[in-house]
Amino acid sequence: MGSFRLKTQIFFGEKSLDELINLDYNNFFIISDPFVVTSNLISHVTDRLDANGKKYTIFDDVKPDPPIQNVANCVAKIREISPDALICIGGGSALDTGKAAKYLAKKDGADFNVPLIAIPTTSGTGSEVTSFAVISDPENHTKIPVRTYELVPEFAILDAVLVKSVPPKVVADTGMDVLTHAMESYVSVSANEISEALSEKAIQIVGQYLVRSYKNSEDSHARQKMHTASTIAGVAFDAAGLGVNHALAHQLGAWLHIPHGRANAILLPHVIEFNTGIDITSCSRPSYPYHVERYENIARILGLQNLNTVTTIRSLVNWVQFMLQELEIPTSISAMGIISKEEYLAMVPVMAQAALKDSCLETNPKLADEIDLSNIYEKIW
Ligand SMILES: NC(=O)c1ccc[n+]([C@@H]2O[C@H](COP(=O)([O-])OP(=O)(O)OC[C@H]3O[C@@H](n4cnc5c(N)ncnc54)[C@H](O)[C@@H]3O)[C@@H](O)[C@H]2O)c1
Ligand SMILES: [Fe+2]
Repeated sequence: MGSFRLKTQIFFGEKSLDELINLDYNNFFIISDPFVVTSNLISHVTDRLDANGKKYTIFDDVKPDPPIQNVANCVAKIREISPDALICIGGGSALDTGKAAKYLAKKDGADFNVPLIAIPTTSGTGSEVTSFAVISDPENHTKIPVRTYELVPEFAILDAVLVKSVPPKVVADTGMDVLTHAMESYVSVSANEISEALSEKAIQIVGQYLVRSYKNSEDSHARQKMHTASTIAGVAFDAAGLGVNHALAHQLGAWLHIPHGRANAILLPHVIEFNTGIDITSCSRPSYPYHVERYENIARILGLQNLNTVTTIRSLVNWVQFMLQELEIPTSISAMGIISKEEYLAMVPVMAQAALKDSCLETNPKLADEIDLSNIYEKIW
């Protein structure tokens, strides 16, 4: 038996922010990051609330990779205000702070059950539709993915007007996060026909629009497409799970503070090689495991079908490397110039052990042990 749960009402496209005032709430608590507030991006929300006489309070102290303490501060504020709806506006960090804070406020406080309206201003995490919130514990260098259905927002608003200001570097990183969500959910052991349909669509949109969106911030069509693809991939991975790419990327974020999407992007060509067992030296075999066929399908969706399985997978790896080049994303840790080789290699066993415990690994189509994980970390140096 299959099962697919849907909860979030999604408003998307031009003027979708107008739907905010049609929602029947009067006292909002807005969770956002300092950039969204100081750049006045938040006015897309507050102007509408002001014009309709709605009350609101702003919490603007969201930190990247939300630390536990910040989420606790947000919970305290929510309890003080007692709003009838929460709005999270910002990147994945603002959305995750709001989701986790609502969950914790509800858990401790009786009868706190207000809707959460997620308004992403980056196109990447899919957090506006997922049951995840990723919280970090800076003291222990860990990122803790919390997962429960209660975290899924009631509403999501995807309006490209909010992503126009996203700098190219963030477009590149977050766009590659979307691609990784779509690919990992597609080859996941928990994929089903519904999640596959969503992953395929997200892959197709990324293939068509990510570079356009990166090269030209005025291309609002491409930016809206990527914004929607991010949500589509979010629904897909929420249902099907992720894989070894995310398990490894979480540690690069926790230890080296590499932006999440960038870490995924650097790992992606190596993870495709690991999962398929096909590298530059591979010869054709009579048959391949099912998940290798899934990777071949991805290549087909991107228009990369080639002579046989080996050449098709090689085309896919080359295409990802080409994307990194076009998006000016470094292809290795060394190219980032943030750490010496000795220091990095000393960290590899620690990161590999942590990645082994990451829940994303459970849905990877190929078993990976600590040595496999260390090898991939070494390859990306
Ligand atoms: N909950 C989930 O399902 C899920 C999935 C993947 C990742 N995550 C988490 O999401 C976080 C990453 O989210 P992110 O990549 O969106 O980064 P982010 O939220 O940390 O934002 C990155 C930067 O972009 C800026 N920014 C946001 N919107 C902007 C805009 N419109 N114009 C210009 N700048 C803008 C922010 O101020 C910030 O400085 C990580 O903590 C990651 O672990 C969560
Ligand atoms: Fe991600």
